[in-house]
Amino acid sequence: MPDTSLDPENWGALRAAAHDMLDAALAKMQSASEGRVWNPLPDDLKQSLTVDIPREGIGIARTQHAVQALLPYGVGNTHPRFFGWVHGAGTPGGMVADIAAAAMNANLGGRDHGAIYVENQVVEWVRDLFDFPASSSGLVVSGTSMATVVALKVARDVKLAFANQKGGIGAAELVGYTSVQTHNCVARAFDLLGLGTDALRLIAVDENFEMDIAALKSAIAADKAAGKTPFCIVGTAGSVNVGAIDDLDAIADIAKAEDIWFHVDGAFGASLMLSEPMRPRLKGITRADSLAFDFHKWWHVNYAVGFVLIRHGADHLRAFTMTAEYLAGQKRGLAAGGPWPADYGFSWSLAGSIR
Ligand SMILES: Cc1ncc(COP(=O)(O)O)c(C=O)c1O
Repeated sequence: MPDTSLDPENWGALRAAAHDMLDAALAKMQSASEGRVWNPLPDDLKQSLTVDIPREGIGIARTQHAVQALLPYGVGNTHPRFFGWVHGAGTPGGMVADIAAAAMNANLGGRDHGAIYVENQVVEWVRDLFDFPASSSGLVVSGTSMATVVALKVARDVKLAFANQKGGIGAAELVGYTSVQTHNCVARAFDLLGLGTDALRLIAVDENFEMDIAALKSAIAADKAAGKTPFCIVGTAGSVNVGAIDDLDAIADIAKAEDIWFHVDGAFGASLMLSEPMRPRLKGITRADSLAFDFHKWWHVNYAVGFVLIRHGADHLRAFTMTAEYLAGQKRGLAAGGPWPADYGFSWSLAGSIR
């Protein structure tokens, strides 16, 4: 074998090491409920991770040993008594799927291959679950923060009739609204999108930590009177502090009456759509212009995977499509099958839902 190959020198040894790693990983998952939830990484292991860049390979056995030594020192979210930060636990089945995904090593940005069809199916399922129209679109992303950026970019571009895509947002004074309880991914998206965090009005909450609807209406009226352009309202389905769910239906009414984009942060709470008794608490979520949520939270898919759903697929596509000759789609073959996931977001390389 030429020494330029990335293949293992000895497939048999690699196969044995892989089986050994699988056994170690399964044993960890099977015993997930034993012991403490979180164990700090011991000093000697920390020390072992501060070595110089190895210029020579260290071989399978030493690599295997080093990786397996880390298995007990995760975040703790695989333990059934981990209740922090709405982390998902992942599942043994998800781990097995990850093995296949790693073997395929598919780039879900686009093109015509097996994993893309899984992606399309996931979009279809989410659309159905939230009762969005066939013309809606969706994208698997790394999490709700990224989903929020994607959604609010579409909202911003729509309000500016897409003129900003070439000319920038100029003097447009766009403002948006969310409650004081909302996750800071919304403020971060405002920053990233060049709107500035001051443009995000933080509306007071009532005794249930839900957005005060009267205060929302007053804030919109005040901004309009001051010559600003309200462009989005972000409702929360499951707030990060206490799990409060805003009155999404009332927000949808206001957004419709005022011609403002209605976005929902459903990072973990959107999963209640799967629960017969809890679904009514989400009333109004199906009226959103966009929805962001995570598969890696209460759906317990392995990290990192979230989703953004956009009601008007054509606007979504217009907000992100940018052609390049080296990425041109074709009528047949591997380069066929557009629009691709990358046409709905700004990364060309995507892990997608297959992993
Ligand atoms: C309500 C809410 N929104 C947004 C986020 C951010 O999600 P992610 O970490 O997937 O970007 C979280 C994370 O805890 C959250 O609870």
